[in-house]
Amino acid sequence: MYYFREDIKHKKPVNINVPDMKIKMGLNESSLNPFEVVKDEFLKKMKNVQLNRYFNDITKTLRKQLSDYANVAPECLAFGNGADEMLYYLFNAVRNNDNSFAVSLAPTYFDYKSYSGAVGLGIKFLSLNADLDFSVEEYLKLCEDENCKLAILCNPNNPTGNLLKESKIIEILERSKRMVLIDETYFEFSGKTFVDKIYEYPNLVIVRSFSKSFSAAGLRFGYIISHPDNIKELEKVMTIFNLNLMTQTMISTMLDNNEVFLKHNREIIENKKVVFNQLSAINGVSVHPSATNFLTFSAGDKTEDLFNFLIQNDIAIRPVWHHPILAKHVRVTISNAGHNATFIANVKKFMGEK
Ligand SMILES: Cc1ncc(COP(=O)(O)O)c(C=O)c1O
Repeated sequence: MYYFREDIKHKKPVNINVPDMKIKMGLNESSLNPFEVVKDEFLKKMKNVQLNRYFNDITKTLRKQLSDYANVAPECLAFGNGADEMLYYLFNAVRNNDNSFAVSLAPTYFDYKSYSGAVGLGIKFLSLNADLDFSVEEYLKLCEDENCKLAILCNPNNPTGNLLKESKIIEILERSKRMVLIDETYFEFSGKTFVDKIYEYPNLVIVRSFSKSFSAAGLRFGYIISHPDNIKELEKVMTIFNLNLMTQTMISTMLDNNEVFLKHNREIIENKKVVFNQLSAINGVSVHPSATNFLTFSAGDKTEDLFNFLIQNDIAIRPVWHHPILAKHVRVTISNAGHNATFIANVKKFMGEK
């Protein structure tokens, strides 16, 4: 007897295929521990937060702080446990029936497929071309189907690292007649946002994360920015106390100190330039430019052996070679100068350079 939804019967469980090595450069996390940075202030703030209660003023405070940070009115925001949870809610809210599907470019963030599948929303992909660009006409053609309920654009895109052309995004917002999700998880590294367009385009939904630029992957905090009418609809599928008060207090404390985290991002952007130049200079290695905190690169036929060599040397990076556009490619997260130097030294060693 099978007690669950038929469509999840053959769905593979979500698993993270990155080994847990000493030097963690596989999951686009930060090397800064936010708890160490704001511990005292957090504990002080927690004195006014009673965990035996459902409600606390911290929720209102956090909403106001986030609205200042994102430069939108508080009613344009919904937040929860990471961008992932917000994607899950959005996919759930747009799904109309068993034929509903979303459209996305590929390769892209792997979990669009995991979470759309989890809520019974199909997903169709249009492959990027070798220049990591795409045809708007082909994309819009997929969206034309009345069962298309969401057009997803990851900007900058993970795992290719590039920003999509602004004119193409605008064209999709204008012509698709669909809800358009722009994933700005790497916004603080790219500096590119469409937030100022949420009133101009009521079909625009933006998702962001604190996992990368606020060093808070383990804390789980992400948010959606959209026209207040969309937020109201989205909230209908959200659980009412989805985000615990302790996380809200921590995020609020981090926003009080946001300059610490934004400064760290600026350092990561500088480190990325160094790693990009060092990697590109290695014979046999080619690197994609990136508007994120990671670099996607190839060592040609040696890529898989390089990946394994790094594991043997306690360095985890991520294989991204499953899509033909990124065949023989891996992705490395930019870290602190020490980790980056160890990574480069090992790549050089493997490639036979000093
Ligand atoms: C493009 C993209 N969207 C969403 C997420 C999920 O972020 P979060 O940790 O906030 O759930 C990630 C994480 O890697 C990502 O790369």
